Amino acid sequence: MIKKCLFPAAGYGTRFLPATKAMPKEVMPIVNKPLIQYGVEEALDAGMHNIAIVTGRGKRALEDHFDVSYELEHQINGTPKEAYLADIRRLMKECTFSYTRQKEMKGLGHAILTGETLIGNEPFGVILADDLCDGDGEGVMSQMARIYAKYRCSVVAIEEVPMDQIHKYGVIAGSEIEDGLYMISDMVEKPAAEDAPSNHAIIGRYILTPDIFDILRETAPGLNGEIQITDALLTQAQRNMVLAYRFKGRRFDCGSMEGFVEATNHYYQRLNGGD
Ligand code: G1P
Repeated sequence: MIKKCLFPAAGYGTRFLPATKAMPKEVMPIVNKPLIQYGVEEALDAGMHNIAIVTGRGKRALEDHFDVSYELEHQINGTPKEAYLADIRRLMKECTFSYTRQKEMKGLGHAILTGETLIGNEPFGVILADDLCDGDGEGVMSQMARIYAKYRCSVVAIEEVPMDQIHKYGVIAGSEIEDGLYMISDMVEKPAAEDAPSNHAIIGRYILTPDIFDILRETAPGLNGEIQITDALLTQAQRNMVLAYRFKGRRFDCGSMEGFVEATNHYYQRLNGGD
């Protein structure tokens, strides 16, 4: 039902310098796959075939990754190594990729608004590739698409995090309307622990209805002088309804070294027939 998925990918990845000096952080591999490829696979599993990527300077490797490499094809066609390309070939066959560039970094809300030109007037998914999610038998975006199909409003994914970590996230408050599903009454971007309305942290998965673009245009810069999607979603929650969904599965914060290493171990075991 939702056909498009937006990937904000213009950030500099400063936390991983020098690795990200000449290489976009989104193509850093977890074992043998770039981070963003896991995200695109999750989107496709949810039926989102149109992949819209907001890029910036120095991100060419990202576009090349989802395009044909004639030299490579020529080299390995008909050899056993073709198996290594099976997943990326499937993505290239089943998805379309479109790109737009964000010229200045003014926050996640601004990045999403930059993607409007690729999305238009329809509901869409948003995946922050840094948050790598291994769904519990079903991808997190597929789980969220089911919620959207029932309620037809914006949905954010949440996770309970320890209070000493809460300052890193957007945080919601709300009333539980179904097991693990909350109707949002308040949202705060990266509050101090003592100001946080709960321990329910927003993670990098959203389904947004397209009225969010008009709201983002009206949203004043918030924390750090940036346009925050959290602020726009609070407006949307007050005008209409926004849901927070406690997803099933496990998330790795691959924007941190610790999460990156945990994800690497997890997917390495998976590749070798482990858990
Ligand atoms: C962004 C959002 C934040 C959310 C987080 C999830 O923050 O602004 O609300 O909790 O993604 O990863 P960032 O991590 O880009 O600073």
